[in-house]
Amino acid sequence: LAHRLPHSGAAPARPSFGIAFDIDGVILRGRSPIGGSPQAIRRLYSEDGSLKIPFLFLTNGGGVPEHKRALELSELLGVNISPAQVVLGHSPYRELVNRFEDDLIIAVGKGEPAAVMADYGFRKVLSIDEYSSYFRGIDPLAPFKKWIVQQADSKVHPSYDVFEERVKGVFVLSDPVDWGRDLQVLCDILLTGGLPGSGRGDQPPLYFASDDLEYQAKFPSERLGMGAFRIALESIFNQVNVHQLKYISYGKPNPFVFKNAANILGKLAMSIYPSSLPAMELKEHQLSTIYMIGDNPKVDINGASKAGPPWSSVLTRTGVFRGKDNDPQFPADLVVDTVEDAINCILEKEC
Ligand code: G3P
Ligand code: MG
Repeated sequence: LAHRLPHSGAAPARPSFGIAFDIDGVILRGRSPIGGSPQAIRRLYSEDGSLKIPFLFLTNGGGVPEHKRALELSELLGVNISPAQVVLGHSPYRELVNRFEDDLIIAVGKGEPAAVMADYGFRKVLSIDEYSSYFRGIDPLAPFKKWIVQQADSKVHPSYDVFEERVKGVFVLSDPVDWGRDLQVLCDILLTGGLPGSGRGDQPPLYFASDDLEYQAKFPSERLGMGAFRIALESIFNQVNVHQLKYISYGKPNPFVFKNAANILGKLAMSIYPSSLPAMELKEHQLSTIYMIGDNPKVDINGASKAGPPWSSVLTRTGVFRGKDNDPQFPADLVVDTVEDAINCILEKEC
């Protein structure tokens, strides 16, 4: 990297490439770093701890605000990761705030889905846990469940009547925890036009942060993801309703996710050596190559291929993909064993 590093006297060149890391199955399994990820990531920083190569995490996971995930990743990987370097499946929900202004919306999934939406600026949001707890008997199986669910806080009454106010939007942010209850309550909301227990009505908009059928977690074989939940909900809804379920899924492999990531990486590149280009160019900094390092051919590799240049795809064998050669359906530009191997190859080629 010697010729790209800042040195006294001459204006340093900005790195012309960037990297997007998938998280589950590439960087972590559960909460454990895999594939030499801490060492690999550390190579993207200078000795003084400053960022040398623009990179971000581009995951379909979520459930916590970006700043919280950045903190967790910093601790797990031993480097300083900024919230701007974390793009979660639900990060684009931020752009929908104005569409829902004072509407009641429901946030679904593990973690703190309602806190995330409040963080994005949604003003009237309840988690599905809290919302369900207002409707006595909505989940007939609740008495048989051995876990404790967060109840509606009796001291913090919403300023509106949940039995009158229709739900105007449903946002799935992360993998739902109690599929049975959530399938039931979401059918109630979606079939009735947003008011469980009332008559049939128009389906409110439904958003999924991703459509991953499977992903790699701690367990040796893949786990069912949000896409599997979507299929379950859609199959049931379409059986009990004359209209088909309408929904929008975000996350990889949608090309707009890669476009957004490219913009963030361009800005990060500018912030690394801000004074080396004239103001005009500063606004438009484009990286010549962006590497997507992922474990899921259908999601990560397919997404990078569909996005086209400057994206280039690197497939690891630490997650969903375990093949010997390339994936036959969604072949990557490069296949390696681990994320550390990926970084070795990239730095060798680029630096
Ligand atoms: O729940 C997370 C999973 O669907 C995918 O995460 O990091 O592999 O995109 P990731
Ligand atoms: Mg993955």
